[in-house]
Amino acid sequence: AKVAILISGKGSNMAALLYASRAADCPYEVVLVASDKPSAPGLDLARGEGVPTFALSSKGMQREEHDAAMEAAVQSSGARYIALAGYMRILSAGLVERWAGRMLNIHPSLLPAYKGLDTHARALAAGDRHGGCSVHLVTAVLDDGEVLAQTPVAILPDDTAVTLAERVLIAEHQLYPRTLADWVKRDMDAN
Ligand code: GRF
Repeated sequence: AKVAILISGKGSNMAALLYASRAADCPYEVVLVASDKPSAPGLDLARGEGVPTFALSSKGMQREEHDAAMEAAVQSSGARYIALAGYMRILSAGLVERWAGRMLNIHPSLLPAYKGLDTHARALAAGDRHGGCSVHLVTAVLDDGEVLAQTPVAILPDDTAVTLAERVLIAEHQLYPRTLADWVKRDMDAN
């Protein structure tokens, strides 16, 4: 199954998804990496790996207009699934609706805790024993869709938001490819 990945930054989760896709038994292939930030480092990585890329700054554009251009790029790649991987823009409801059940996101908290930004700082401030990450289906409400899988990550006595984020990111890189592969398999069997 063909997957398009949307990024805004470093793209380390995109890289994890891409490298995992090269295993012989992986049910998905990455056909496009698209970004709303033309300077996103992840785009260089994708290009270096021979994956088609698309970049369009959202500056000066209406949300619907930018989303439509991103979606057109995804459509022409032939992707059946979209994996959001550090894509920092809220998507318009129409786009989300059209991809219902076929768009996934990774979020650096144990949802439903800490939707939105600054998840690690909030977990530390609350005195939580665990942070973690979640892969969920995307709905029109931010970080709110069905959770498909999670990994808890222990919070250590000396953790800062930075050190905790580093370990959670390692967990993200394990969790996302496996969860996307499982979801794609399940969806293809059902359809
Ligand atoms: C990850 O922590 C992801 O959970 C969050 O943004 C970060 C993206 O990192 N949504 P990267 O661009 O995949 O390295």
